[in-house]
Amino acid sequence: MGKNKLLDSFGRNLYYLRISVTDRCQFSCLYCKGKTSNFLPESELLTFEEILRLSRIMKNMGTRKIRITGGEPLVRQEVDKLLKEIHALGLNTSLTTNGFALKGMIPKIKSVLNSVNISLDAMTPETFETISGMPKIFHKIVVDSIIAAKESGIPVKINTVVVEENKEEIMALVDFAKNLSIPIRFIEYMKVKQGANHGVSMDSVRKIITDLKGLTKISGKFGDGPARYFKTNDGVIVGFISYSSPHFCDTCNRLRLTPDGKMRLCLLLGGELDLKYMLRNGLSDEKIENKISEFVKLKPFSHGKKEILERKMNSIGG
Ligand code: 5AD
Ligand code: SF4
Repeated sequence: MGKNKLLDSFGRNLYYLRISVTDRCQFSCLYCKGKTSNFLPESELLTFEEILRLSRIMKNMGTRKIRITGGEPLVRQEVDKLLKEIHALGLNTSLTTNGFALKGMIPKIKSVLNSVNISLDAMTPETFETISGMPKIFHKIVVDSIIAAKESGIPVKINTVVVEENKEEIMALVDFAKNLSIPIRFIEYMKVKQGANHGVSMDSVRKIITDLKGLTKISGKFGDGPARYFKTNDGVIVGFISYSSPHFCDTCNRLRLTPDGKMRLCLLLGGELDLKYMLRNGLSDEKIENKISEFVKLKPFSHGKKEILERKMNSIGG
């Protein structure tokens, strides 16, 4: 690999690329896409060939890690093949999923996954139904997927977005994570256009857990993202992701690719580079690399006070 071309103007190394492969999802989480049935047409999605070409270009520029997200990435046909090919490029390969279709997929992907993050917002089927819009009987499917993923040996984390609807289940979720010995991360709800407005502050989540189990900060580097990690007195690793935290942007290492092939420099701020257009209009790898290199220099230091997203989360990939 040549010189790292993914250093931004603040010296941050943007070696981590999140690729959203679809905006579709079986769920309708009230904090994410809600009841939308307005999806990108198939022709607008990058093909796997296009994603792999970009992954090669990005690897050449300095990308070391790719996370496949959605919408729900496992609704995209044969996404296991994409994961294999990304892994074969020598990149750290991970997946974020709602767990609904994961269990059956594990044997096919366990050897190529460095980690999987699974969303779990509730320990009761009723709250699961309220938040995800899915019949409550499906809660067990998600829970079983988490257990199966853990048993397969893939490093697993649980992601929980905290809203008023699941606040009462925080401790039950922490206990579930304890029983499986997996880290759990609580994520601050980010307001999305036309979305629900039920956010709960990470300070209050931290207080709930501290009061019952104590929380000690884990010193040194843990994890690869914006979460701050703690350990409860009974040994559960708990992370908090807070968009409004002043530390969120300092160590940002991310670039994002939307399902329709736009590169984004920031989860919250607009400004997208239309890579699909370049891929489909005959630009050489070298030209694309130069365009990305110029674009990366525009990454802002921080999203500042911006706290509402103009795209729905399912079309960015979280
Ligand atoms: N705020 C915070 N996190 C969100 N996610 C989806 N929508 C939101 C939101 N409005 C998270 C999901 C999942 C990841 C893909 O993004 O929980 O973990
Ligand atoms: Fe689907 Fe995840 Fe969005 Fe829920 S948060 S609707 S599971 S993409």
